[in-house]
Amino acid sequence: MSTAGPGTGWDHVLKLLIIGDSGVGKSSLLLRFSEDEFDDAMPTTIGVDFKVKSITVEGKNVKITLWDTAGQERFRTLTSSYYRGAHGIILMYDVTRPDSFESLEHWLQELDVYTPGGAKGVVKLLVGNKIDLEHQVARDTAEAWARRKGMIFLETSAKSDIGVKQAFDEVVRKIFESPTLLANTTPGAKGRMTLKAEPPSDARRGCGC
Ligand code: GTP
Repeated sequence: MSTAGPGTGWDHVLKLLIIGDSGVGKSSLLLRFSEDEFDDAMPTTIGVDFKVKSITVEGKNVKITLWDTAGQERFRTLTSSYYRGAHGIILMYDVTRPDSFESLEHWLQELDVYTPGGAKGVVKLLVGNKIDLEHQVARDTAEAWARRKGMIFLETSAKSDIGVKQAFDEVVRKIFESPTLLANTTPGAKGRMTLKAEPPSDARRGCGC
């Protein structure tokens, strides 16, 4: 078991969840961020995967627990249970696949239904991935959509390592700006967050932590 606080080395422990259609690059983004690696033949996620990464933002040591959900429809019931306790949620689409952009409305609805307190209670970041390839979804279109939905927006390439660290820094900064969210990342606070070292064994593809 791990918690934030004195003696642990962390000022905050955050839970981030990443959602979006299958194949948009969710696992690849997390692999790039947590291990600075990229796999051209990334296997599809079965259920939910879990990684941990420590970073420093604004002088604070932050431990981020990263929950990588399967994009495939058949895992939807399982993945929906992982929204609870998330401080930030990353919605991802693939800039080469307009269908993955069109699915975002659906993902946002799902987020609203399964996040206790609704979508307004968490920091949301829209990420357009695979910008090393030719855009089929214009940056301006995605940026305008994100603005309408009250989300931060960034484009990334997990393959070429563009925008990846910035994406996570941005989410953490936004969480820092929310006193309500921040209150649940520190010890002694109401609703103190406790993390399991590992997710349920039937929900993992292989823990990189
Ligand atoms: P599910 O686990 O099925 O939900 O998919 P996912 O969203 O986790 O996608 P994943 O990370 O498995 O990536 C799907 C494919 O896209 C893999 O073959 C990756 O190598 C590739 N890929 C991921 N990110 C990038 C990128 O930035 N650029 C390019 N060119 N390919 C990428």
